[in-house]
Amino acid sequence: MGLAAGSSTWPSCVSHAFILVAGLLILSNMPCEAQLSSSFYDNTCPSALSTIRTAIRTAVSRERRMAASLIRLHFHDCFVQGCDASILLDDSPTIQSEKNAPNNNNSVRGFEVIDNVKSQVENICPGVVSCADILAVAARDASVAVGGPTWTLKLGRRDSTTSGLSQAATNLPTFRDGLDRLTSLFSSKGLSTRDMVALSGSHTIGQARCVTFRDRIYGNGTNIDAGFASTRRRRCPADNGNGDDNLAPLDLVTPNSFDNNYFKNLIQRKGLLQSDQVLFNGGSTDSIVTEYSKSPSTFSSDFSSAMVKMGDIEPLIGSAGEIRKFCNVIN
Ligand code: HEM
Ligand SMILES: *[C@@H]1O[C@H](CO)[C@@H](O)[C@H](O)[C@H]1NC(C)=O
Ligand SMILES: *[C@@H]1O[C@H](CO)[C@@H](O)[C@H](O)[C@H]1NC(C)=O
Repeated sequence: MGLAAGSSTWPSCVSHAFILVAGLLILSNMPCEAQLSSSFYDNTCPSALSTIRTAIRTAVSRERRMAASLIRLHFHDCFVQGCDASILLDDSPTIQSEKNAPNNNNSVRGFEVIDNVKSQVENICPGVVSCADILAVAARDASVAVGGPTWTLKLGRRDSTTSGLSQAATNLPTFRDGLDRLTSLFSSKGLSTRDMVALSGSHTIGQARCVTFRDRIYGNGTNIDAGFASTRRRRCPADNGNGDDNLAPLDLVTPNSFDNNYFKNLIQRKGLLQSDQVLFNGGSTDSIVTEYSKSPSTFSSDFSSAMVKMGDIEPLIGSAGEIRKFCNVIN
């Protein structure tokens, strides 16, 4: 089964090697590259996608925030060593878990949901569906479950046998980053500035801890609405270490629905994180924020294509990596 799945990623290279154009025979030097494909599990595990969808719907109906947590998990996976489920590995003698990186520790969540989905999928097709693909499917199904856009997934990622703790510290954006830093981080992953703004629209759902927005709400800066700052101060005390884990919604209006309110908030200087508000602070991305605030459908279609692009960051394909049996440990 595993072999069949692997071989279906290879396009028919031989038939593409010779291309007849206007009577000229051109010998193509293009290497035969394995690629992700939307039909990857059609033969090897036809009910994989419906099984995942049902499990994600159940998890999100139990706790709406889980949709946000799952989308973020896929993002933090893809930005470190590519979309290879490296974020799911626990500490072990050979693994230094990414879970302990500064941007993940005490912050990323949803691991139990992924482990549960994985065990359901293993029951129907053992050893076939990767944890990296489960993360990608879960993110898409989570978006749909809270009213967000859908997209056609490309599948066939395999799982890493290594983890990237130190890479996580440098490759993941932080709430303190300015626009230039954010732009260059996303660009280093092959994502445009427009992709970055669209993907940041994920902050239309989910929560953030006081420790991530304290400096902003107490900074008395001009790029924050005063009433908003004072509301947020009520549950986020000024002193470091006091109420650090108190949560506030990233989108103050509709924190449980995937819509374009995030962008409207930014225009009113009500972005929760500094890294949110820098997207609308007199800089080059202001026009994109304005566009998304006016057009939910443009945001929706840009978000979908950016998620597909993000899911395509350095996947392990063909015979690289492995299909883990349990997402938190290598085989
Ligand atoms: C542009 C750079 C980004 C920065 C600096 C950033 C930073 C953050 C921070 C600080 C939090 C709160 C974490 C905590 O309280 O511990 C957060 C939450 C979240 N982020 Fe981002 N983020 C960025 C981009 C993204 C992208 C690209 C996505 C998805 C495609 C995303 C999805 C989310 C979601 C859904 C949450 C809420 C998670 C939950 O409620 O569990 N973020 N982000
Ligand atoms: C992760 O967070 C926990 C709880 O706040 C803390 O005790 C631990 O030291 C942190 N680990 C790292 C590696 O920072
Ligand atoms: C912001 O203003 C408040 C009240 O006026 C003041 O107590 C606080 O020190 C100021 N914070 C900063 C960072 O200037």
